[in-house]
Amino acid sequence: MKAVKISQHGPPEVLVIEDCPAPTPGPADVLIRVRAAGLNRADVLQRQGHYPPPAGVAADIPGLEVAGVIAACGDAVQRWKVGDEVCALLAGGGYAERVVVDAGHCLPLPQGWSFTDAASLPEAVCTVWSNVFHRGRLQPGERFLVHGGSSGIGLTAIQLAKARDAQVFATAGSAEKCRECEAAGATRAINYRAEDFAAVLTSLGGVDVILDMVGGDYVARNLEVLRPDGRLVLIAAMKGAESTFNVLQVMTRRLTITGSTLRSRDGKFKRDLAADVEREVWPLIATGEFSPQVYRVFPLAEAAAAHRLMESSQHIGKIILSVD
Ligand SMILES: NC(=O)c1ccc[n+]([C@@H]2O[C@H](COP(=O)([O-])OP(=O)(O)OC[C@H]3O[C@@H](n4cnc5c(N)ncnc54)[C@H](OP(=O)(O)O)[C@@H]3O)[C@@H](O)[C@H]2O)c1
Repeated sequence: MKAVKISQHGPPEVLVIEDCPAPTPGPADVLIRVRAAGLNRADVLQRQGHYPPPAGVAADIPGLEVAGVIAACGDAVQRWKVGDEVCALLAGGGYAERVVVDAGHCLPLPQGWSFTDAASLPEAVCTVWSNVFHRGRLQPGERFLVHGGSSGIGLTAIQLAKARDAQVFATAGSAEKCRECEAAGATRAINYRAEDFAAVLTSLGGVDVILDMVGGDYVARNLEVLRPDGRLVLIAAMKGAESTFNVLQVMTRRLTITGSTLRSRDGKFKRDLAADVEREVWPLIATGEFSPQVYRVFPLAEAAAAHRLMESSQHIGKIILSVD
């Protein structure tokens, strides 16, 4: 099969397409003939050498999510059969014509969705569900803020929080990105290059839950805008992993600071999460309350160009690789 490999750590050009043997499924796995693979910021970090994959995962083929057709099933697999159309959450290996994954990490292709649309789903939806609704315990009627609102994660979080009757706020780096956040369901999106998000949100009465991928000095500013019993959920640290904050704010307003990374979680965690997501999110897809946010599709062989676009941060929503 053809696969895009990280030939060495470095700029996008280190991504090279090569022939390599297709993987074989274990008893509880399926082999997917990949039709589309989603890009994630983690793939860029992995290529740069800043985010090594967990033990046991092929280190040289990136890709955390795909959509495609089941080509083979392990002996113990009951739910799926050859020919079923699925999307799947991976720990790596998605930039390829074939990938093997735990059968419980697959979800059915939503009705009427293309493979490119469906490849945008698994990583973003599972990350948002796990962090906003499990760890952040966002409730109907609460106020929710997501930073990086125009990212794949951000637009997913806006739509899901809105569908669960939260009032949604977002930050993003341009007026156009803010308009897209509001079109996706945010009550108010703040261009962080033009306005101080903490001052704006404090004047609007604060929020109950924040999903933060920025870190650095955002941590202290997030604490300023959290209401009593508020929850801050950290999923990345694009502005840096070190931060200083006032612990008295945590104590006096009984705040919770938490966070997680999805890729390193074990197989059972991901099976349970996929089942939750299918039960809670797939109905929202069926009613049109959640729609795909694909910005641009590149052929697999142009993965380097896709990475360059992601690093430019010009995109709004998801970048996808198509696989013939
Ligand atoms: N912990 C987990 O399990 C997990 C899982 C999936 C993703 N993530 C993280 O979630 C984030 C989003 O992922 P993605 O794949 O959706 O990436 P993405 O589409 O590339 O989004 C990154 C976003 O962050 C914004 N941004 C970049 N630098 C910033 C800065 N210094 N200050 C404020 N905003 C900044 C960018 O746009 P603007 O600056 O123009 O607004 C962009 O919208 C990534 O950091 C990723 O690593 C974590």
